[in-house]
Amino acid sequence: MFRLTIILILLSVYTEQASGGSIFLYNQVRHGILMKVHCKSGDNDLGWHVRKFGGFYGFDFKDHILDKTLYWCNVWSGPNFSRNASFVAYEGKQYKNRSNWIRWSIRGDGIYESIDGATPWKFKYHWFGTPL
Ligand SMILES: *[C@@H]1O[C@H](CO)[C@@H](O)[C@H](O)[C@H]1NC(C)=O
Ligand SMILES: *[C@@H]1O[C@H](CO)[C@@H](O)[C@H](O)[C@H]1NC(C)=O
Ligand SMILES: *[C@@H]1O[C@H](CO)[C@@H](O)[C@H](O)[C@H]1NC(C)=O
Repeated sequence: MFRLTIILILLSVYTEQASGGSIFLYNQVRHGILMKVHCKSGDNDLGWHVRKFGGFYGFDFKDHILDKTLYWCNVWSGPNFSRNASFVAYEGKQYKNRSNWIRWSIRGDGIYESIDGATPWKFKYHWFGTPL
């Protein structure tokens, strides 16, 4: 029992130290074009959100001590949201520094990423099918 208590205390200390982060998705597709997003992790379903051109959707998350944190997002855009893309928005083990500021720019030609404010933005994912 005593040992279990120690383990629980240690675990909570580690959990406290687990870093957090935030993810932002920017609608930079084109004037007048909406973006719909749906992000999920194993534990969280963040629902569907629609943003206008120039707007963004963002959320905070806690990183897992064992690098298990994984968020993926679907985005829809174009006529009747008929176009979509699906991508891993954050995977703990991909970022050595436990980066905490991940931005995704949703553009007509694809999905770009910037980690911790880095520029230029890096092209990372294509739209499913032809570009918008
Ligand atoms: C969008 O959906 C509506 C209703 O189904 C349809 O009438 C319209 O033609 C669609 N627009 C485009 C651009 O596909
Ligand atoms: C993405 O678009 C393709 C082609 O239209 C479609 O087959 C697929 O079901 C869509 N995926 C989602 C998640 O909407
Ligand atoms: C991680 O952080 C260190 C110290 O701030 C920095 O020197 C290094 O370039 C960073 N590595 C990556 C992959 O960002």
